[in-house]
Amino acid sequence: MNLETAPRPAAVHPVGHPIGILAELTHRCPLRCPYCSNPLELERREAELDTATWKRVLSEAAALGVLHVHLSGGEPTARADLVELTAHCAAEGLYTNLITSGVGRAGAMLPALSEAGLDHVQLSFQGAKAETTDRVGGYAGGHAAKLAFAAQVTDLGLPLTVNAVFHRANIHEVEDMIGLAIALKARRLEVAHTQYYGWAYANRAALMPARPDVDRSVAIVEAARKRLEGVLVIDMVIPDYYARYPKPCSGGWGRRTLNVTPTGRVLPCHAAESIPGLEFWSVRDHALGDIWRASPAFNAYRGTDWMREPCRSCDRREMDFGGCRCQAMALAGDASLTDPACSKSPFHAKVEALATAEAAGTAPDFIYRTIGGMPAGRREGAKP
Ligand code: SF4
Ligand code: FES
Repeated sequence: MNLETAPRPAAVHPVGHPIGILAELTHRCPLRCPYCSNPLELERREAELDTATWKRVLSEAAALGVLHVHLSGGEPTARADLVELTAHCAAEGLYTNLITSGVGRAGAMLPALSEAGLDHVQLSFQGAKAETTDRVGGYAGGHAAKLAFAAQVTDLGLPLTVNAVFHRANIHEVEDMIGLAIALKARRLEVAHTQYYGWAYANRAALMPARPDVDRSVAIVEAARKRLEGVLVIDMVIPDYYARYPKPCSGGWGRRTLNVTPTGRVLPCHAAESIPGLEFWSVRDHALGDIWRASPAFNAYRGTDWMREPCRSCDRREMDFGGCRCQAMALAGDASLTDPACSKSPFHAKVEALATAEAAGTAPDFIYRTIGGMPAGRREGAKP
């Protein structure tokens, strides 16, 4: 066969298609949770993308094969154009999930969001009791506002997921949280042990639970799953520092999802900007599909070719993709190393010992999330 003239197969791009997009519409938020995974340097309102640009990005996402849009932040209802953006998603055939704190203007906006075609609501609780929610969220009256908001969601016939992030200040409320989710008629509950990025990383010593408490919370969830089959689905995120194997962070780098920051930078995961040297492209300069396929940041850790040992020869490498790059950067100082959450990482024992020591120490005060970065004098708390 003459290779010069032989018909070529149609080009199939090896990258595949993303299934979901996290639209971080704003970093503004009435709550100040110390476990927030947003970066320490929060983006300001003046620099946020405008409505027309978000609509273009959402249309490009739909054309790229995205099915789910997570309308997130910060608090997405802080954006006055959220109803318009939700209607735009519905017109593009995108399934919308509102990730909200349920306070501020969320309740006032909800009927219009429902009318615009919103598909699902994920409501955060910082505790099962009012004093816990209000203290952890740094917002007086937050718990009561969330209860009222949850009732509004189900009255409108929208499916409700309750998301609760657990740590040493509320880990004794897991059982109560399950009861609260049932009382609120939630269909799902996410029991999410804190992931240490952004503000959570800076607050790690204040948040790290003790191993026995983690084990107890896992046992409570496992028993509840059996007891509540058909009533409530419970998802659980295990704390990385006590794990045996890491999670496939974001479903694998550049495999399934993309994050767009309030100012338009597109990231493979929410903490990717913590990795020095990566080049992120912005939707202000590039089409979303070009960013997904060709931006240096997305290609940096895609697939398995970048892996070093022990991941390179590990039979789990296509299951967890070496875990979390941002955690490898934070804890091992190199994003291309095995996630130290993995028991095969040479850093694993050190990380587990660090977690045990922090959990045993006196909890420092929370550093509450705030626009403008960490207060002077508290930055040392961010060091591992
Ligand atoms: Fe996953 Fe790498 Fe650990 Fe294997 S060595 S389990 S691929 S993180
Ligand atoms: Fe960035 Fe896990 S948060 S790869």
